[in-house]
Amino acid sequence: MNASSPVVAIYPGSFDPITRGHEDIARRTLRVADRLIIAVAHTATQSKNSLFDVDERLELMRLVFAEEDRVEACAFSGLLVDFARARDVRFVIRGLRAVSDFEYELQMAQMNRELWPDLETVFLAPEVDYSFLSSSLVREVARLGGDVSRFVSPVVAQRVREKLAVG
Ligand code: PNS
Repeated sequence: MNASSPVVAIYPGSFDPITRGHEDIARRTLRVADRLIIAVAHTATQSKNSLFDVDERLELMRLVFAEEDRVEACAFSGLLVDFARARDVRFVIRGLRAVSDFEYELQMAQMNRELWPDLETVFLAPEVDYSFLSSSLVREVARLGGDVSRFVSPVVAQRVREKLAVG
């Protein structure tokens, strides 16, 4: 990399669905990176508990970031390091909400570094208002009839309602 190369980062995750917290981390990343690839993992997404399939998550991502041409959303399967290497990207972004996230995140970062030493994981702290927020809680609240419209973008809230109405 030379001084004039654009800084590109990958923000990987399940994003089922994308929350305001994820959006916040993505927008913060754009303060320090020129471009962001949001990478929706196939491997982590096939649980019984999932709400949206990978294509639906990608569509939501593209709708949420429709105004932001520096954000690209795509799916990946297999190892994150292989995806990053194939795209020639050396920064991975992860949000750290609380100390409870730390152990898992550090483990992943160190494993990824073992697998590809050129890959750096950068942790960003979300807005404090989102520090309790997770996709799994959004799914649970929505499935139990709660209102999730404060926690996700309007387009996501609408899709969640539609999905649960037909599901
Ligand atoms: O939003 P999540 O579920 O916490 O994201 C976890 C994710 C998808 C980033 C992680 O499971 C991952 O990178 N999966 C890809 C497979 C892989 O590379 N596993 C080894 C990571 S140490």
